[in-house]
Amino acid sequence: MNNSFWEDKKQEVAFFEDGSFNAAYNAIDKHEHTNNRNKNALIYEYEDGTAVQYTFLDLIKLSNKFANILVNSGVVAGDRVFLFLPRIPELYAGFLGILKTGAIAGSLFSAFAENALKDRLENSQAKVLFTTLALSKRLAPVRSSLPNLTTVFIVDSDEFKSLLTNASESFSTVHTSPEDYAFMLYTSGTTGKPKGIVHAHMAALQQHESAKLVLDLKDNDVYWCTADPGWVTGIVYSILSNWSLGVTTFVHGGRFDPEAWYSLIQKHKITVWYSAPTAIRMLMSKGDELVKKYDLSSLRYLASVGEPLNPEAVAWSRKVFGKPFHDTWWQTESGSILIANTPDLEIRDGSMGKPLPWITADVVDDNGKPVGENQEGNLVIKPPWPSMMRTVWQNEEKYHSYFANDWYISGDRAKKDNDGYFWFVGRADDVIKTSGERVGPFEVESALISHPGVVEAGVIGKKDELRGEIIKAFVVLKTGVSPTEELKEELKQHVKKHLAGHAYPREIEFIDKLPKTRSGKIMRRILKAKEEGQPIGDTSTLEEY
Ligand code: WT7
Repeated sequence: MNNSFWEDKKQEVAFFEDGSFNAAYNAIDKHEHTNNRNKNALIYEYEDGTAVQYTFLDLIKLSNKFANILVNSGVVAGDRVFLFLPRIPELYAGFLGILKTGAIAGSLFSAFAENALKDRLENSQAKVLFTTLALSKRLAPVRSSLPNLTTVFIVDSDEFKSLLTNASESFSTVHTSPEDYAFMLYTSGTTGKPKGIVHAHMAALQQHESAKLVLDLKDNDVYWCTADPGWVTGIVYSILSNWSLGVTTFVHGGRFDPEAWYSLIQKHKITVWYSAPTAIRMLMSKGDELVKKYDLSSLRYLASVGEPLNPEAVAWSRKVFGKPFHDTWWQTESGSILIANTPDLEIRDGSMGKPLPWITADVVDDNGKPVGENQEGNLVIKPPWPSMMRTVWQNEEKYHSYFANDWYISGDRAKKDNDGYFWFVGRADDVIKTSGERVGPFEVESALISHPGVVEAGVIGKKDELRGEIIKAFVVLKTGVSPTEELKEELKQHVKKHLAGHAYPREIEFIDKLPKTRSGKIMRRILKAKEEGQPIGDTSTLEEY
């Protein structure tokens, strides 16, 4: 896409007069002197059913308070400030408050436990963390090994509440340059520790445009994106783009529950719903009768992201909601939706749709040459695009490894049909997608090995009808340790406690020996092939097994 395209689009977002650009100013401050001032920005419902509303002005004031608290505690532009919070209004206001100071916001999914927290806070050298009393207990065991973390705010403490009460509700948002870093998110790859994907303020331009085009957001919508801001969808499509468009956004603080979800749609008259395949399949498994108990006629447009949306789920949605889920494809690294079933595109059930008008995508071989139609290959994108990650935190080498032969390599395998629709095939690497959440096998293996009974572990994603994949671990025990059912349970608890509540192996198999290359690398590909009854493939580099 030529540069003049985005130059023209720049009129749709709000720059400061001096040419600087702050994504939080663009998302909310700009509405202060418009008709949106007293419009609801956030409708929030607690798990107990209490609902609260924040107008754009309320949210401006609350995020200003967060910004003032940060500046008063010594935060300056470029510092890393992290949020380790459940989906509560403070998460949304806090995120915006951080951006307003020019600091870089990081979010940590609320299911993380001590080791996941430590790796991310250590690598980013975070200075400040917002958390709750309950979640802070998971930080406690590693706090002393984080010397850069000078301040931890407990948002539900009396102390913080009085800080908030006393903080000024006016703040002059920092004039960041469009290319300054705004937020970072840790993602898991095949090997090593999670990497910090860094996004610039200017990404908001493409986020805004994609939300308008793909999610079809309009002025009078009540929009519900079910994603958690611990992941990129929750940041981009329930904070930065939706509010840039001035759209009333609903957030549910509670857990997934089919009846609760239907009744929330009915009660809040949700019009646009952006969710994920695992949730859709779980709703589907509860049957059609349940849907009929609710008045869901407010629903106007449905979209999905995060993992393959199977054709059955699209067909089911047409049957029970009278409209299909529109699949969308993107990644933490891409910063916004790149391939999608836009409202005007005829849906081919099971396809991710087509590249957005400003994106060039293709399917290529390992040398960057396009493979033929309907042939499997690497899904690649022509760089750059405005919301593309700007770097991998303190890891230029990793950043550069994403690019080859003038392409950005997504790490996904796909096919393109004769009419240009893209079809997802799988991951090119060992990254696991369980319930739409990205989990690195290395992190899970490391957590398992830290148990005194374990010698080594190999972790894979195993196909699952409901969750897309579940995490399966192959574990080699120390001599003399009994391979019991109790031990399996203990290992699951161990991973939950030390790594994350969502990243534990639902299945464990004890095994005598792991398949390894001659250089000692675990060959997860072989574990996976054996698990799925597939041919093992090329084993020329395999150590005798
Ligand atoms: C990976 C990125 C940014 C969205 C949330 C996930 C998988 C994403 C689809 C889709 C099949 C999908 C890919 C991708 N993925 N959307 N529509 N169909 N797979 O962001 O956690 O960075 O994960 O999710 O494998 O590479 P993420």
